[in-house]
Amino acid sequence: MTTKTREEIKLMERVCKLAAQTLYHTAKFVRPGVTTDELDRVAHDFTLSNDARSAPLGYHGFPKSICTSINDVVCHGVPGPQPLKEGDIVNIDITCVKDGFHGDTSATFFVGRVSDKARQVTEVAKAAMEKGIEAVAPSGTVGDVGFAIEKFVTRKGFHVVREIGGHGIGRDFHEDPFVPSFGKKGKGDRLLPWGTITVEPMINETAAPIIEMPIANSSIKWYVTSDRSLSAQFEHTVLITDAGHEILTIY
Ligand code: MF3
Ligand code: CO
Ligand code: CO
Repeated sequence: MTTKTREEIKLMERVCKLAAQTLYHTAKFVRPGVTTDELDRVAHDFTLSNDARSAPLGYHGFPKSICTSINDVVCHGVPGPQPLKEGDIVNIDITCVKDGFHGDTSATFFVGRVSDKARQVTEVAKAAMEKGIEAVAPSGTVGDVGFAIEKFVTRKGFHVVREIGGHGIGRDFHEDPFVPSFGKKGKGDRLLPWGTITVEPMINETAAPIIEMPIANSSIKWYVTSDRSLSAQFEHTVLITDAGHEILTIY
């Protein structure tokens, strides 16, 4: 993992704060009837008006500025003309680039009133991210993070996605190391003070496999649960400090 200078951390703090503000701003528009294309436009315009750009747009051919993953979509959902409907859960994933650095954050939102199971999978995903973040420490490893996430999620009767997870972040959108949502304590890549990673567990209702789906003219895939069961996710960009960690994607 790349470690950052004091100046680079300042820039990471700035872009991460903007990503969090963009997510918060965009989320205000979530309601039955709004299209994910409209959310994409809101996020895109907000980002540009803050002298930054949306990292997903054009990233390996990705066609939109944000990812919007509804219900059984695990991640990388492409915004489109379909309106959100009452009872949906939607993950909005925002990544901004400013002054050469990336800030990446996502959250899952309720569209009107949702079912108990939709609420449960969303709450478990949020708490799973928090458990993972608590395990981020300068003497630790990515295995510590994955272990904390998986242990919590399994106890709650839900399932972690293994194929996709967190990542180092900085000048590049996706850097080493991979930060899995499962693992063994003390195993895997070491976390270094003044490195930055994302913690972004995807949590599914069932253990059914996920299916990879193509995006036209892009090498990015989107993913859906094979049994149409629900999937939820939360993401923060986190700085590893000499004392522990600090969440950067907060407004
Ligand atoms: N923001 C996603 C992540 O958390 C990545 C999206 S890549 C895209 O890593 F191309 F789909 F935008
Ligand atoms: Co990410
Ligand atoms: Co993201």
